[in-house]
Amino acid sequence: MTGSTQKIEGALPPGPRLPSALQTVYWTSRPLAFMRACRRRFGDVFTLRIRHTGTWVLLSDPDDVKKVFTAQADTLGVGEANTLLGPVLGQSSVMLLEEPAHMAHRKRMLPPFHGRQMLDYGQVVTEVTREETARWPVGEPFALWPRMQAITLEVIMRATFGSTDAPQIRHLRELMRQLTEWMNSPRRLATLAAFGPRWLVGNSSFRAVMDPVEAAVLEEVRRRRAAGEQEGEKDIYGIIESAHAAEGQPLTEQEMRDELMTLILDGPTSSSLAWSFERLMRNPEKLERLREEIATGQESYLDAVVRETLRLRPAVPVVVRRLLAPMELGGHAVPAGATVAPCIYLMHHREDIYPEPDRFLPERFLERPAGTYTWIPFGGGVRRCAAASFALLEMKRVIQTVLQEIDLRPVRSQPEKVVRSSIAYAPEHWATATVSRRAALPA
Ligand code: HEM
Repeated sequence: MTGSTQKIEGALPPGPRLPSALQTVYWTSRPLAFMRACRRRFGDVFTLRIRHTGTWVLLSDPDDVKKVFTAQADTLGVGEANTLLGPVLGQSSVMLLEEPAHMAHRKRMLPPFHGRQMLDYGQVVTEVTREETARWPVGEPFALWPRMQAITLEVIMRATFGSTDAPQIRHLRELMRQLTEWMNSPRRLATLAAFGPRWLVGNSSFRAVMDPVEAAVLEEVRRRRAAGEQEGEKDIYGIIESAHAAEGQPLTEQEMRDELMTLILDGPTSSSLAWSFERLMRNPEKLERLREEIATGQESYLDAVVRETLRLRPAVPVVVRRLLAPMELGGHAVPAGATVAPCIYLMHHREDIYPEPDRFLPERFLERPAGTYTWIPFGGGVRRCAAASFALLEMKRVIQTVLQEIDLRPVRSQPEKVVRSSIAYAPEHWATATVSRRAALPA
């Protein structure tokens, strides 16, 4: 440890005294129970030491979280946890860029996720979901999470590349499916936690799924550039490419590849969808209320169901920032160089903000709107999820379409526990269900 790292460590708020190896084991195998136990023992601000991801000051007081999310962009850097994503997303992914490059790239990535474009995505989601549910087996149990991954992958591929009809895009979709399947495994996550991202970069089974994806994305970038601007300008690829060109700063092939990987490797939406169904199936009265609302064409309860799912089962439990200037948090003078981590999971389970925090109660969002610094499944500030509105729209359209066509029953009566995969926090049995088709609805 260098002298300055030691100085930072000494000035941090208290946390468990367990050796970092043991904290890493708890963080990997029982993260939720570990975070809750730490909050009971140390309060809303405490320090964890996790191997390969660094030393984090976890925050779950709304005032502290607001301070971090509203701090000047150039006083915050990328947290170490994001660098774990480097081997998959690439070093020039918007998630890994420091300021001012981060803001420049983010600004050019946002337009496809706003305005009129969003309406078209809604139709794509409904279409893709219908095609997918038509293939579901009737009467035999199957896992919904991989089916949700198939839907979100198809949606983002169509939105990014215009369509998935071309053979090279169909091929890329299949390679992405294999990569996602590889990353779903909690066993791989445990190995990654133990050995770190360098192990991942050199691991032959990871290379076998990652290299072909990289090659296929690069090939598509070259093909599109060779074809010129006239092709597919309205898809996400075209919009981002033109935005950079208009600023006179076209991206290199590698940069474009990293931007595309960041968009098409979507873990959180599919696991959040799997959780929506897992929770709804085990709360039949909520499911019924939702169905009734869907039949009337209204969306307020649907919106509340989506928000409550993202509150109760956030796919991403923390976001991280490196402080480039000291900050006072929870009465501690946290020094520059420290990593602070607004904790989504602990914030969403605060009893004073969410009474009966472990219950699935969508009604709470009908009574009170979600707070900017207390409902934070998409993080916040200048690094807030660039596609939050897109993800909310997608979740609503998938749930609506599935419930119009399908009746769902859980295979086990017990709720599914939360397990970590390399991509997101997912249901232990991947939201296993048995389905039957609904009787045709009157026209
Ligand atoms: C329910 C679904 C999703 C959840 C819960 C989610 C959550 C998050 C979170 C927690 C962050 C980090 C925010 C922070 O550090 O403050 C993030 C960043 C990001 N997400 Fe999402 N996300 C979802 C869907 C998506 C989708 C579908 C896309 C792309 C199509 C996407 C693209 C991004 C990008 C580009 C960033 C980086 C933004 C930046 O650094 O400026 N996300 N997301």
